[in-house]
Amino acid sequence: MHSNFSISRRGFLRAGACLAASMLSSPRRASASTVREIRIAAAPAAVSLTGKADTEVWAYDGQIPGPTLRLRQGEPVRFTVENRLGQDTTVHWHGIRLPNAMDGVPGLTQPPIRLDESFLYEFTPPDAGTFWYHPHANSLEQLGRGLAGALIVEEPEPVPVDRDLLWVLSDWRINEEGQIAAGFGNMMEAGMSGRVGNTVTLNGAVPANQAVRAGERIRLRLLNSSLARIMALRFEGHVPVIIARDGQPCDPHALEDGRLLLGPAMRIDLLVDMQGEPGRRYRITDDFYQGLGYELTRLAYSGEPPLRTKMPDPIRLPPNPLPEPELAAAERRELTLEGGMMSRMMGGGMMSGGGMMGGGGMMHGMGGMSGMGRAVWSINGTSMTGDGHAGMAPLFNLARGKSHLVTIRNRTAWWHPIHLHGFSFRVLARNGAAVPHNQWADTVLLAPEDVVEIAFVADSPGDWMLHCHVTDHQTAGLMTVLRVV
Ligand code: C2O
Ligand code: CU
Ligand code: CU
Repeated sequence: MHSNFSISRRGFLRAGACLAASMLSSPRRASASTVREIRIAAAPAAVSLTGKADTEVWAYDGQIPGPTLRLRQGEPVRFTVENRLGQDTTVHWHGIRLPNAMDGVPGLTQPPIRLDESFLYEFTPPDAGTFWYHPHANSLEQLGRGLAGALIVEEPEPVPVDRDLLWVLSDWRINEEGQIAAGFGNMMEAGMSGRVGNTVTLNGAVPANQAVRAGERIRLRLLNSSLARIMALRFEGHVPVIIARDGQPCDPHALEDGRLLLGPAMRIDLLVDMQGEPGRRYRITDDFYQGLGYELTRLAYSGEPPLRTKMPDPIRLPPNPLPEPELAAAERRELTLEGGMMSRMMGGGMMSGGGMMGGGGMMHGMGGMSGMGRAVWSINGTSMTGDGHAGMAPLFNLARGKSHLVTIRNRTAWWHPIHLHGFSFRVLARNGAAVPHNQWADTVLLAPEDVVEIAFVADSPGDWMLHCHVTDHQTAGLMTVLRVV
């Protein structure tokens, strides 16, 4: 399986030393595929996010979101990432099944990329779908200041839709000067819902109306690149169909309870038939946080007559070459998430003064690995904080090539989008009920007290991160390492 995981070279280049790269691409290759060469640079920039002041951000190639990288399934790519940030960085290719050395976790899979250095990432994306890229160093601040972009791997044959749209949804905490508010790593927030901001952008701008035409069929790729904001989207007057989760095709199905849950790092591909009336507007709203609902954007129909009167049947995306886990033979593991503020602490002013770390009922089973008191969460009693570090013992060794069934228990009062690097997993069951529609994911959202079962074939060796993608939770202990040997 996945012989295209083979990896020839990697390593650092000095910034500006693009000679080697251009020489490598010139000799004609025997294979039919050509190697795509892409360079991106991480650097400070100023952009118009809110339409008012220019906001100082950290960006890939000066853009928020970063450039949308479009690759072809099975086509090798070489990304040279240049660091002009003024601090160490790396790039993680979220959701792409690639060799461990290309996974972008500093200290675990590569040394950090230092200022004015570059790193060459080489891989061949095995799966078509909607993925993304972001740093894995000083993650709270680097992601929170804007370093993120979409990575789209195209199917070999075009999918029959009228338009393919990408909405990168991102949450920011903007202060009165129109700048990104300081105060990353607030421990009170880390023990609660994380750094949820006050401004949501769509493709890097406060959303305007989205122009559509009646009778159009749109593939809408949604990516939540927020640090912490979970979204629950409702589409007034429309019946979107989910055709892929985290890049992986599923059986086409409608939204559960009419809303689309989209936690940080999650992607959903929707098929949306524009069955509204010409000239009308339809709201898309987000009401995840109680009492804090808002209108994200509107579908604004042109006055043109419908493009077609009868919509064709829903489409199904072609399958990706995922190894199917053998459930009967699978090895079983459990992951128990604990910590954070308890729900009973949230009422009656009990939060005043004491801070996160005091008090009885707040944390259970914190291990001794955290250091410096920065852990407020744990997985199986241990806490890996910050961005991880070399030398942390993996929580489990997973036998390479075997199927593994992992039960994740959320024993906290908070929601967690739990992400595994390097693999797409099947989402089998939630709270004892089978999950329908053949769902695969790399990030699964757990409500408080949820118990979710996932399974995957550990076909790729190495040390792989598993963490909550609410970034404050990740850096405050909701992170661990699984080793495939
Ligand atoms: Cu997008 Cu370690 O994650
Ligand atoms: Cu990832
Ligand atoms: Cu979390």
